[in-house]
Amino acid sequence: MSDHPLNLEPFWMPFTANRQFKAQPRLLESAEGMYYRSMDGHKILDGTAGLWCVNAGHSRQAITTAVSEQIAKLDYAPSFQMGHPLPFRLAKKLVELTPAGLDHVFFTNSGSEAVDTALKIALAYQQARGFGRKQRLIGREKGYHGVGFGGISVGGLANNRKAFGNGLTGTAHLSHTLRRENAFSRGLPEEGAEIADQFEQIIALNDAATIAAVIVEPVAGSAGVIVPPQGYLERIREICTEHDILLIFDEVITGYGRLGAAFATTKFGVTPDIITTAKGLTNGALPMGAVFVSDQIHSAFMQGPENVIELFHGYTYSAHPVAAAAALATIDIYAAEDLFQRAADISGYFEEAVHSLANCRNVIDIRNFGLMAAVELAPRQDASGTRGYDVFNSCFFEQNVLVRVTADTIALSPPLIIEKQQIDEIVENLGAVINATK
Ligand SMILES: Cc1ncc(COP(=O)(O)O)c(C=O)c1O
Repeated sequence: MSDHPLNLEPFWMPFTANRQFKAQPRLLESAEGMYYRSMDGHKILDGTAGLWCVNAGHSRQAITTAVSEQIAKLDYAPSFQMGHPLPFRLAKKLVELTPAGLDHVFFTNSGSEAVDTALKIALAYQQARGFGRKQRLIGREKGYHGVGFGGISVGGLANNRKAFGNGLTGTAHLSHTLRRENAFSRGLPEEGAEIADQFEQIIALNDAATIAAVIVEPVAGSAGVIVPPQGYLERIREICTEHDILLIFDEVITGYGRLGAAFATTKFGVTPDIITTAKGLTNGALPMGAVFVSDQIHSAFMQGPENVIELFHGYTYSAHPVAAAAALATIDIYAAEDLFQRAADISGYFEEAVHSLANCRNVIDIRNFGLMAAVELAPRQDASGTRGYDVFNSCFFEQNVLVRVTADTIALSPPLIIEKQQIDEIVENLGAVINATK
């Protein structure tokens, strides 16, 4: 154990190799704009927007002010059979960003809760309209939908599932879309849309009459930025429509500008029935998630006696006033600075820069879309994940650059305010570290 002045022992850290971390901790103390400041005084360039969430850059004054004023005015108010003005204002602003027909919002406190909420709404909707046999939920291999039991059941990352029992019954998984022959594609790979057709086999095997919904990340983030082949999402949408199955886009990462548009749905022109979001909703400043549902789904609930609660679901902190204030200020910044367009404008430069790493040592694939990219390294023999970890760790300690690692894939997702020379700095430093890593 290190002789660090903090007692690192009591905090059981999430998704962390605790003993390894505590032997050589990476501790961040403050942040501004594109940079963190580490506890030992280094200025660290943020290549990951925190955890895919600080889209407008760190410590934005307007968010700080909105949060401070709100907490002084109304610290908490229940949203069960009570209300306060902010979530109504926020929901109105948010639905202006989604395609027409996705005009209702349910608030949660995280992406995981947004996913479980979406899955529950899908099941309850099918029941409400008299299709109660539709109870199966379909996910996708390599999908990440948070850590609730619903999310891990439809999720497709083995490590997130295997220690935690059986999960929901009746789930199935689409094939993932990562193909070795598409390695080093720029943007959407041209080949592979037919992977979507395997959905038809799942339907044939289980009967569409038993399937409530399918959930996918439009671009898979946590598994290492897996970009859908051209036409793939359109095909999934068609199959859903043909078989009366709800389509849920999990936009916890792709939402709020990451792809150079408000949402992946707007970028790709494919409209799901439900969208889950979180992260960039508040610029990461406070926990909040939002689930967008179609008018058709919403109106199926708004039937029957008006004194009856339509959806027996919600969280103590759903639509929390302080989180809502943070979200309102965040959405204003995105609009005032046209940040979604900025991400689109700089994404070509980002793509070029990231693909310049193609000839670096052990690089076996590079994938990108919008301001998301992944550099995949060959795993070391019998030590999968160690090469990626070493690169991540050296970037932090030796180059003062924060990147993200999953297994041997390095992911980049910088704040949308990034400048070209900062892209260069991240990529040059990452390339130097990759080449120096055996
Ligand atoms: C696509 C997706 N869904 C859900 C989640 C879970 O969000 P949270 O960690 O806020 O629960 C994440 C988090 O990275 C995500 O990427």
